[in-house]
Amino acid sequence: MFAELRPQPDDPILALMDRFRADPRADKIDLGVGVYRNSRGVTPVMQAVKSAEQQLLERQESKSYTGLAGDPAFVAAMTRLVLGGEIDAERIAGAATVGGTGALRQALDLARLASPGATVHIPDPSWPNHRAIIEAVGLSCRSYRYYDPAAGGIDIEGMIADLAAAEPGDVVVLHGCCHNPTGADPTAAQWHDIVEALRTSRATVLIDLAYLGFGEGLDADAAATRLVARQLPEVIVAVSCSKNFGLYRDRAGVVLVLSETGAHRDVVQGNLATLNRLAYSFPADHGAKVAETILNDPALHASWTEELGQMRGRINELRRSLADALRSETGSDRFAFLASQNGMFSRLAVPPEDIRRLREEKAIYLIGDGRLNVAGLNAEDIPRLARAIAEISP
Ligand code: LMR
Repeated sequence: MFAELRPQPDDPILALMDRFRADPRADKIDLGVGVYRNSRGVTPVMQAVKSAEQQLLERQESKSYTGLAGDPAFVAAMTRLVLGGEIDAERIAGAATVGGTGALRQALDLARLASPGATVHIPDPSWPNHRAIIEAVGLSCRSYRYYDPAAGGIDIEGMIADLAAAEPGDVVVLHGCCHNPTGADPTAAQWHDIVEALRTSRATVLIDLAYLGFGEGLDADAAATRLVARQLPEVIVAVSCSKNFGLYRDRAGVVLVLSETGAHRDVVQGNLATLNRLAYSFPADHGAKVAETILNDPALHASWTEELGQMRGRINELRRSLADALRSETGSDRFAFLASQNGMFSRLAVPPEDIRRLREEKAIYLIGDGRLNVAGLNAEDIPRLARAIAEISP
């Protein structure tokens, strides 16, 4: 039977990660996969995570199974973190998942069970794995206008016009904050317009929230998700703990599903448990337990928010420095948007050929669409990066 298998297309982000690892040049710079790095180039284990793991080492008495939806204390703590206690608990079902990708997968499988003919609308551009998962679960995928490269911001008229094509039974994917790959988020006023457009369409909203705390702050970054959750009847939120807790490989995530009324909540909850059972039985617990321990311990919570704030501050500082360096190297303001965008990523409007030359001639690795992981940058590398971009893509 294996003779019938077709090779799978590479994921552009993970394929670049492999290429970077195989590059022997000592001065190579990795601005590809979305991981945060500190000034020493390390993706650190956060202090609060270390302390929580220490506590677990000393106090955890069993590693027997949790429930199919994971540890309810983790799901409750994440619900508070994301929704801030603003939503009627009767509406909310939730399950721990294997990272943010697991949350998206379970969300889209749930959508398929509820609405097998659904079209899933994603922004143009979006994280490449969105389309891949949507098609893998057997749903159709359609892009809506989102990014205006000339403005470095949102094409809000195009977006609203395209969202009008979404129908009841469809799903509209929104990035809750720190849009991946562009770093361009709607303003608060634009979020209100988006909510009105979605209210008219009556499509179900799926918010991908993978970078909570990396934009402006935990509450500020959750504001759009909370607005959508308050205003619209059916909302799914796929949350990742990979970046904000630095738990990447521990695969902690949660899927929250808000029904219009409490009447559907129990059936949704049962479906989430079954989807976990069918995929992997019980979701991984170690990272989830660490996140829950931090969120429920005031001292650890304070340490975590403090360190997350430092990481956010560092990314914003790198953004400003890179925009300044590019301004002086190119003598133009065409990269000024870097300083005002949010989160780990921005997208440079440079052609794929220039991205290839940056990689091959300068050992500088960006995703082929021009996505640059600002959070992977080292301040010392900024002059070299700016010079290389100005030289290759003047
Ligand atoms: C990214 O976009 O680089 C991250 O979310 C990592 C991944 O899994 O693609």
